[in-house]
Amino acid sequence: MLLEVNNLNTYYGESHVLQDMSVAVEDGEIVALLGRNGMGKTTTLKSIVGLVKPKSGTVIYQGKDVTGFPPYKVVREGIGYVPEDRRIFPNLSVLENLKMGVKHGEAAKTATRNIWDFERIFRHFPFMKARTHQKGALLSGGEQQMLAIGRTLMGNPDLLLVDEPTEGLAPVTVKEVRDILEEINKAGVSILLVEHNLKVAMSLANRVYLMGKAHLGFSGTIEELEAQPDIRSKYLEV
Ligand SMILES: Nc1ncnc2c1ncn2[C@@H]1O[C@H](COP(=O)(O)OP(=O)(O)O)[C@@H](O)[C@H]1O
Ligand SMILES: [Mg+2]
Repeated sequence: MLLEVNNLNTYYGESHVLQDMSVAVEDGEIVALLGRNGMGKTTTLKSIVGLVKPKSGTVIYQGKDVTGFPPYKVVREGIGYVPEDRRIFPNLSVLENLKMGVKHGEAAKTATRNIWDFERIFRHFPFMKARTHQKGALLSGGEQQMLAIGRTLMGNPDLLLVDEPTEGLAPVTVKEVRDILEEINKAGVSILLVEHNLKVAMSLANRVYLMGKAHLGFSGTIEELEAQPDIRSKYLEV
């Protein structure tokens, strides 16, 4: 197992937002984490990368216990995180944004299997090559999303956590982002995907987790989910 998250309990103050939350990703998989707004999907990703500290439970990455590690150490292990708000640097160029994802010093020494350089990024994201000097602020929403993904890839992750990558994008751009995630996965990067677009999630993932309020409601394959329409209406907007 590449990532094993077991029984996380995470709080914001008194509010118990993850209750025994567990997810796992096998090497090579795309796994979708779905559920209505406010259920705890983002908090699950943040608990994995160390942006919030779970009170109990474990995060095991490639057999190593990384629970409670600060984000820079989790990232050093080979996990990449693309946050919901993308965090593109608006005043930096495309190239400079990509450079921000490069690891230096000790952090660069991790033995991940997926090594990226500008040439490889440009092969997957041709628009970036044509616009290396354009400022981040001038990119469209879809291009900013792809730049956020590209920048994270520059850190050579073996596992990518992606939070709502298609949110707010026009349908044609949704498909572009969807296709790039599939391409990156085929290139060797495993993905844990939080997504509100069920069609996108079902077309990409081999397995799905559905979150109810603060806890796991369902886990199974796409086929198992398709066979149970009642589960879908219970945990998802329909
Ligand atoms: N920084 C925070 N402080 C307090 N409560 C928060 C914070 N972030 C999220 N929450 C609450 O935690 C719950 C889970 O939020 P979140 O993980 O963002 O859900 P999702 O990503 O599934 O929409 C929600 O009730 C949300 O209001
Ligand atoms: Mg969220």
